[in-house]
Parts: sequence; structure tokens; C-alpha cells
Amino acid sequence: MSIDYSEKIPNNVGLADDRALRRALEHWQPNYLSWWREMGPDGAQDFDVYLRTAVSVEAGGWAHFGHVKMPDYRWGIFLANPEPGRQVNFGSHKGEAAWQDVPGEHRANLRRIIVTQGDTEPASVEQQRHLGLTCPSQYDLRNLFQVNVEEGRHLWAMVYLLHKYFGRDGREEAEALLERRSGDADNPRILGAFNERTPDWLSFFMFTYFTDRDGKFQLCALAESGFDPLARTTKFMLTEEAHHMFVGESGVARVLQRTCQAINELKTDEPAKLRAAGVIDLPTLQRYLNFHFSVTIDLFGADESSNAATFYNSGLKGRYEETKRDDDHRLHGRSYTVLGVADGKLVEREVPLLNALNEVLRDDYIRDSVAGIGRWNRVLEKAGLPMRLAAPHKAFNRRIGSLAGVRVSPAGEVVSEAEWAQREREWLPSAEDRAYVASLMGRVTGPGRFANWIAPPANGINKQPVDFEYVRFN
Ligand SMILES: [Fe+2]
Ligand SMILES: [Fe+2]
Repeated sequence: MSIDYSEKIPNNVGLADDRALRRALEHWQPNYLSWWREMGPDGAQDFDVYLRTAVSVEAGGWAHFGHVKMPDYRWGIFLANPEPGRQVNFGSHKGEAAWQDVPGEHRANLRRIIVTQGDTEPASVEQQRHLGLTCPSQYDLRNLFQVNVEEGRHLWAMVYLLHKYFGRDGREEAEALLERRSGDADNPRILGAFNERTPDWLSFFMFTYFTDRDGKFQLCALAESGFDPLARTTKFMLTEEAHHMFVGESGVARVLQRTCQAINELKTDEPAKLRAAGVIDLPTLQRYLNFHFSVTIDLFGADESSNAATFYNSGLKGRYEETKRDDDHRLHGRSYTVLGVADGKLVEREVPLLNALNEVLRDDYIRDSVAGIGRWNRVLEKAGLPMRLAAPHKAFNRRIGSLAGVRVSPAGEVVSEAEWAQREREWLPSAEDRAYVASLMGRVTGPGRFANWIAPPANGINKQPVDFEYVRFN
């Protein structure tokens, strides 16, 4: 399963032997490149960036590192190795051989799943396209661009499936993926969080921590799919996703580290004094966290969903770590607890498990997110400070599902509209917070130099020193 880089489109799917598919994708390729030039990183197309490129899909050494201009990045089609004898592992088709082609009865749902996933990939590139202009360091700039080119590759991954398995309507969907625009009033991206702006680097780090982690859980659920090409595609995407979450987790940790240092030097945690020192105070970090956490958990969809049940029953989308779970993988007659509101209080309700699979995935996601917040808290602990960051309650600030529109505090108390209005500034970033964070965003480009509000990383990329020339600006 080695990757063929001699082709116009690098791949390990034998594109050279499938002339019709190759022609269709070579037709899409220039459109992709014009999208990249128009909507990819602003003003950075000529930079030489120290990027990694996949050379093999084997675990370990899959990456090659070197300076490349981003439009010359070798985007391609890489599938994880097939698993011999793989079966459909859940739902009503459990035990059948995994499908190598699209089952006719599930075609529309499968296309919808692939398009929805595919749409998030270019969306995040669009959301992040101005960030390079205010990078806190070369190291961070390189990480941003690495995330961006890999999200571009994730689009390739989904477009390959559309072209290969969905004929003409697949090709039309692939074009439409290049036409929608994040935040566009007339032709927006499909999911809400992907139409929000990513206006500053704190938002970027929170986004890559929280929202790329949604990507991880969606991809993990699709990696269980009975449609084998989707499973193999998403399995390889997951290896790239891990780096995106690392960028977010380490980014926020470095912001915290710098803030802790200032708190200890100034012997105060008063936001005004910390802001005067040019660092980001802890309440502001907590509000950004609250915002990104709540907007991201909405991405899992309604807590009760007949679509989720259908996707599972039909073997299209499994649960997180489906095959590691010890149950019948059909889930009939079982129930799951979801939250609702009755008489002004949050109450638990039992609903059929099959209809609650969005909630199951959301709860798995929440556990994983909270673990990383614990790792951030170790930075505070190590600095000898008693404050801690925390995930808000899952009913806080929800727009989707049965909790939409209910006013719930981060601590999980249902509050009145009046109390919400009064306290929203304590709980979510205010215009003033955003303006303050924006005021910190300058462009730091000297090798080894870092903006004042963020600590340098412990290590460079690919064992290079921290002051390595990660980006040549030409
Ligand atoms: Fe992605
Ligand atoms: Fe990602």
C-alpha cells in the first residue's frame, strides 16, 4: 500500500488503473487549487513552509518533512490498509462481509454523511485564513499551515469517495464543496460552528482543541462503518487529526503557562493588572473555553434523533470504539439517559438507546475533552496556583436538541432570562474580552521569538530546535 507520488494526484488507491476516476479527479484538482488560492491562508501562498507530507500509511514513520510552498503541497488520496475478512460490526447487517461498494438502499444516507463531513474540512481553512497575519511565532505559523493543508487533504479524502462511489451526483456534491463559504449568508457551510469566525489565536487553539476533537469522534464513528472505503479513509484521517488536537492542547497550555508566570511575578490574579501586563487573564480563558465547548457539543446533533438510529441500524456510522464494546451491537430494547427541562429544572429522561446515539457520542466526546482540561490544570498546579479551569455543564449555551434555548449556567442551574442577561458576561466572551484578545494579536516572525502572551513550546517540530526557520517568507 505504498503511496505513488509519480502521479499528478498522489495516491495509494491505484488511480493509474482507473482512467475514468482519474480523469474526473484531475478535472476537480484545478478547481480545488483555485479554491485554495482564493480561500486558503491569506497572503502566504509564496512562503516556504516546513510541512509534513504522508509517505506511507503504516503506523510510525508516515511523514516526510521539508519546506514547500503550500499550493505545491502534494494533496492526495490515502487509505489505511484493508483489514482482511472485515465485517459489518453493528446494526441489522451485523456479520455480513463489509461492503466494498455502496449498498443501493443506503446510498442517500451515506452520501449525506460524507458530504457533511467533507464540508467541515474546507470550512475550517476558510475560518482560519486570516490568522497567519497575526501569528505569535514562526513555530505557531507553521502549525497553523500544517493544520490547513491537512484539512485540505481531508476534503480530498471525502471527494475521492464521492467521485468513486456516487457517480454524477457525487461529482456535483464535490463541486458544491468548493462553492459553499464559511459564514456566507447565501451559501454557508452546512454546520453552525463552521460558520463562526476564528478571529484570533486563542480562538484557534480552542477550536483545534475542541472542534477538531469533534472531528476525531465523528471520524472514529465513521471508521467503524460497514462501508469499508469510508472506514479506511477515515482511519488514515485520524492520524492527521491527532496533530490538530495537539496544536490546540499545547497552544492553550502555553497561554496558561505564560499567564501563570505573570500571576506569580505580579503576585496578583486581577484581570485588569494581568491585562496591563499583556497576558490573558484566567476568567477570559475560562469564557473562551465555555464558548468553544458549548458550540462544539452542539455539532453532535439533537439528543434524540431517528437519523442517528437509522445510520446505526444500517451499519453506516457506529459508536466511538464500537468493536471494543461488549454488547450485542444492535441495541434494540435498551435505553439511555438524556437531559430535558421540566418545571424549571433539568431532569433526566430515559429514551431508546438507538435514538440517543448522538448523545452517546457527545458524552464520549465530553469525557475526552474534560481529560485534557485536567492536563491544563496541571499547568496551574505546577505553578502553585489554586485556580482551575472547568468544562461548563453540558446544558450550558446550547442551540441544538431539547436543551436549546433553555438558560443554564455553567454550573448547571437553570436561570431566568434576566439572570442570564445579567451574568452572560461572566460566562461567555464579551465584546470587550474579544477586543482585548484581538489587541494582543501582533505578528511575530523572527525565528525563536514569541509574542508576550504565550510561552515557547518545550520542543520544536520533528526534533528541530524551537528557533528553527519553520517558515521562509521570501
Ligand atoms: Fe479534518
Ligand atoms: Fe482537523
